[in-house]
Parts: sequence; structure tokens; C-alpha cells
Amino acid sequence: MTQDELKALVGQAALKYVVPGEIVGVGTGSTVNKFIDALATMKDQIKGAVSSSEASTVRLKALGIPVFDSNDVESLSVYIDGADEIDQQGHMVKGGGAALTREKIVAAQSKQFICIADESKLVGALGAFPLPVEVIPMATARVMRQFVAMGGTAAVRLKDGQPLVTDNGQHIVDVKGLTITDPVAFETEVSQWPGVVTVGVFALQKAQVCLLGTAQGVKTLAF
Ligand code: 5RP
Repeated sequence: MTQDELKALVGQAALKYVVPGEIVGVGTGSTVNKFIDALATMKDQIKGAVSSSEASTVRLKALGIPVFDSNDVESLSVYIDGADEIDQQGHMVKGGGAALTREKIVAAQSKQFICIADESKLVGALGAFPLPVEVIPMATARVMRQFVAMGGTAAVRLKDGQPLVTDNGQHIVDVKGLTITDPVAFETEVSQWPGVVTVGVFALQKAQVCLLGTAQGVKTLAF
């Protein structure tokens, strides 16, 4: 099976976690796009979605799924999103699609995080994928120096030769060369650095379930 087919498989499998009559939290990325397409087949059974990015909002609306402002929804039963890496405890690196801040916000208002991913995303320890960090632009150089002091290398993410601007009007720094052995401690520390909006380690809000697309079918990992 191709990676694209594995993504479609887990996108479809996630439907069983969607609670009829409720609003579902929806992540961002190519795997989530498969989920959104599958969700459209049961759109009459749900109230709608809270979305984690402008891109997902556009796709949801195009398929006729109502999108609610997160401020108007107290809590969600379930949030479905992809990951760039996930370890055996359900800790993740996210933000490859630059949507990490809104993803963390929607995850925080959800009772359960269901991660959907192909098997290439399952890792022993987080850190092989460049770690995305959303930063306030005036703090970029100092935040990058702090990652260098930790032993990493850091670069501002570019789009068309210019710093990529997130849905929140900020920039992304991608950090390479760190092995994140204690994801909770790492997330807690970096989140406190002035100018860091969101660090792409999701350990305080880890996944409870991962639907992993494998050549043998969908494996369910519960954490
Ligand atoms: C976006 C994300 C995505 O969930 C992550 O990048 C995985 O994306 P894909 O499903 O395209 O591999 O965190 O900010």
C-alpha cells in the first residue's frame, strides 16, 4: 500500500470515534484531509466541527460541514489529528503543517486525542523530525540561540523565500539534532521561553489512541 492509501485507511477508521450529534475537533494535514473527506459521508449525523487551521476550515466548509468557533464550544468529546512523530507513550511532534498552535488549543478543549498516522510516524524517541516551534518574530534569534545551546540547529521556515507566516501571524523555527528523551519536561521548559508561542511537542496533551496505518491494516495503539 502507498503512504497515501495508508492515510486514507486511518482517515476512514477514525470515523468510529466521531460521536453522532456532537461537534468534532479536526486537525490539519494530508492525513486529516483524508479524515475530512470521510467525515463528509456522515455530515448529516454530526453538528459540525471545530477546526485547527484555515486550510482545514476551507476543506470542511467546501464539503458542507459547519465550522464552529472554538470559543463557542466548551468542550469536545474527540479531537482527530495527524502527527509528524509519535512515540510508544502517545507523545507527539506536530507542526509540520505550521498549524501547531491552533492544534494545541483544540486538543486542549477535547477529552480524547485520536492520532491518525501511517506507520512511518511511529518512533522510539522524538527528535528525528525537525521540531516546529511557533515564535513571535522579534524573539526568533534569541529562541534559535537557546536551541543551539541545547545542542540543536535551528532555522526559520521559509515560504517563497520569505519567513512563513502562520494563521496567527507568527513565524516557525524548525529545530534539528535534539533527541527528546523527556517530552513532558521539554514541553514544559520550552513553553516558558519568552517569545515562544507554541512548541510542537505534544506531551502534556498527548494522544490517548493512535490509529496506525500499516501494510497489515489499521493497528490501534492505546496509551
Ligand atoms: C500540522 C500537523 C500535522 O498533523 C502533521 O504535520 C502531519 O501531517 P501529515 O498528515 O500531512 O503527514 O501537525 O501542523
